[in-house]
Amino acid sequence: MRLSYSPLRACVSPRDASVPPRSRIFIYLGLAVTFLLLSYQLILDRAPSIRTRWTTIQGIIVAGDDDRFVPEAIPAEKELVFAAMEASNISWVEEHLSDWKTNIYRADAKHKDAVLTVPVNKGNEAMVYLTYIIDRYWSLPEVSVFLHGGRYQWHVDNPLYDSVISISHLNLDFVQEAGYVNLRCAWSVGCPTELEPARYLRERPEDSGHPTAVEYPDRYMELFPRAEVPEVVGTPCCSQFALSKKKIHEQSLEHYVRLQRWLMDTNLDAGISGRILEYSWHMIFGKPAQYCLDQRECYCRTYSYCNMTDSDIQKQWIWRGLQLPEGWPEQSETAD
Ligand SMILES: *[C@@H]1O[C@H](CO)[C@@H](O)[C@H](O)[C@H]1NC(C)=O
Ligand SMILES: *[C@@H]1O[C@H](CO)[C@@H](O)[C@H](O)[C@H]1NC(C)=O
Repeated sequence: MRLSYSPLRACVSPRDASVPPRSRIFIYLGLAVTFLLLSYQLILDRAPSIRTRWTTIQGIIVAGDDDRFVPEAIPAEKELVFAAMEASNISWVEEHLSDWKTNIYRADAKHKDAVLTVPVNKGNEAMVYLTYIIDRYWSLPEVSVFLHGGRYQWHVDNPLYDSVISISHLNLDFVQEAGYVNLRCAWSVGCPTELEPARYLRERPEDSGHPTAVEYPDRYMELFPRAEVPEVVGTPCCSQFALSKKKIHEQSLEHYVRLQRWLMDTNLDAGISGRILEYSWHMIFGKPAQYCLDQRECYCRTYSYCNMTDSDIQKQWIWRGLQLPEGWPEQSETAD
């Protein structure tokens, strides 16, 4: 009889003569206990997700400091977040982007228990974006894309100004890699220099035509209390961007609650507070104050539009004014 003890053998061949019958009973007993513990754990793991789905379907209001509808907490791989109004028609998303899960926040909703909405309608899209991050901090998808409600908007970065094109061509691998990706590559509006907060702080110029620039330095110090006020802030405009879950999680939930609190408490009007955040998101998500990617590289990485010629880049986005022609895009040929 061999004296060497092999635990592996004891499991694989319980009939092995080297394991006495007493020990075998203990092994079976151990296996039974392990099995019971695992089943119990499975039940525990499932319970919260079942409850969340149920409350969502029933539209039940969960206790909190307000009466807001609690969004479904089961994340998809990729989700869209819309800053919309009660009257916004978002059916284009369902029609053309059905492979995305959508979160439509109606900022002016009267019946706050029926739809996704914000605690206070202030700060334009900024309040929606922060509310989504706070609501979903523990159940974020890998990629979230933050948008305004309209399909065709003057600042959408393709020749048709069509958000369907931007969203469906967005390179999600680049979002995962960069963490924060502005949907706009064009420099017109925002780049290379939009604000000069350090100079405005030193010189305090009279600049009633640019209230955001006047307010920005002091508000920057409130939003980023540990950072030095930058000389130049520049980034493509218009507050539509994508974030990875990993990037959002680089800051604590409390951090976003604090930003939302700032927006709730500020006495600035919505246009200005919203615009201050418009030119802060890239820094909130870890990019430098002046963050203007080379356009050729930006289109290639953001949308896989690589190998663009100078003329392609010029034609990619053209300033047409803040209003697209009535009936766009059917009017696009006649407008040219
Ligand atoms: C909403 O927009 C779609 C086009 O995407 C249109 O067919 C539909 O009639 C619109 N609905 C309303 C209520 O305006
Ligand atoms: C890049 O553009 C050139 C000139 O337009 C073309 O000949 C070439 O095939 C393109 N390369 C790729 C990879 O698209």
